Amino acid sequence: MKIIINDTPKDTYVALTEAMSEVFKKIHDRDVFLAVSGGNTPARLFDLWVYKYEHQIDWHRVQIFWVDERCVPPGDNESNYRMTVTHLLSKLPFMQKHIHRIHGEASPQEEALRYGEIIRKLLPWEEGLPVFDLILLGVGSDGHTASIFPDDPVLFSQNEALCDLETKVCYDTEEFSSEKPVCRVTSKPDSGQKRVTLTMPVINNARHVFVLVTGADKQEVLSQLFNHTPVSATYPASFVNPRSGKLIYFVDREAATPPVKPES
Ligand code: 6PG
Repeated sequence: MKIIINDTPKDTYVALTEAMSEVFKKIHDRDVFLAVSGGNTPARLFDLWVYKYEHQIDWHRVQIFWVDERCVPPGDNESNYRMTVTHLLSKLPFMQKHIHRIHGEASPQEEALRYGEIIRKLLPWEEGLPVFDLILLGVGSDGHTASIFPDDPVLFSQNEALCDLETKVCYDTEEFSSEKPVCRVTSKPDSGQKRVTLTMPVINNARHVFVLVTGADKQEVLSQLFNHTPVSATYPASFVNPRSGKLIYFVDREAATPPVKPES
């Protein structure tokens, strides 16, 4: 894992985008398969892409997917798709057929299966799973990433494929499923909001994983993660470990500064 720290959020977005551009440049004979996260941070990253990289990157050959989506209609304020359209897709020349939206308005279970099938069909495969060229992740202050949350039993099971997506009951025998799921349904702990998310095995099958973290509110979670503390082992973000080895955290100074412990 590499950690690249820049003084400001903007410099952090630039560093990530330059690295992303280098990844894309190495892919000549086909489209690029990119999966983006939602939340607040990517909105500012997308604004930079529009402002500074309209002509530096060939957006026509970028096939864009989502790491996760809230199970809400596409026009809902909570929709990651809506945020991405507002900040990115309405402003840069992505080809319509390259925009692969998670249908947040659909039945979560059915959509997890449908979206997984699309990814299976369109992407190259290695180790029995689709391979994204680049997955962009964020980290929540509770240590979640994608829409995989700290209370998620599937994550801690030996094999995510042996878990019932709805009941979260995990089985310890192979009889239930040997096919590794690409997407699954989770629930945000505080609100119960259903999510469709890429599974951790798919995230870890990507050629590159970039994690973008900025702001003082992420000091504590990053300090735990970067110091591999016992509590960080419960963070889904600590499970991100692509077999390619190409995991880079892009962090601004505020988030990278260890939290000041209150005087005891
Ligand atoms: C989501 C995201 C989520 C996000 C983190 C960090 O749908 O909310 O995919 O995993 O990356 O919550 O969010 P911020 O960038 O807003 O801090």
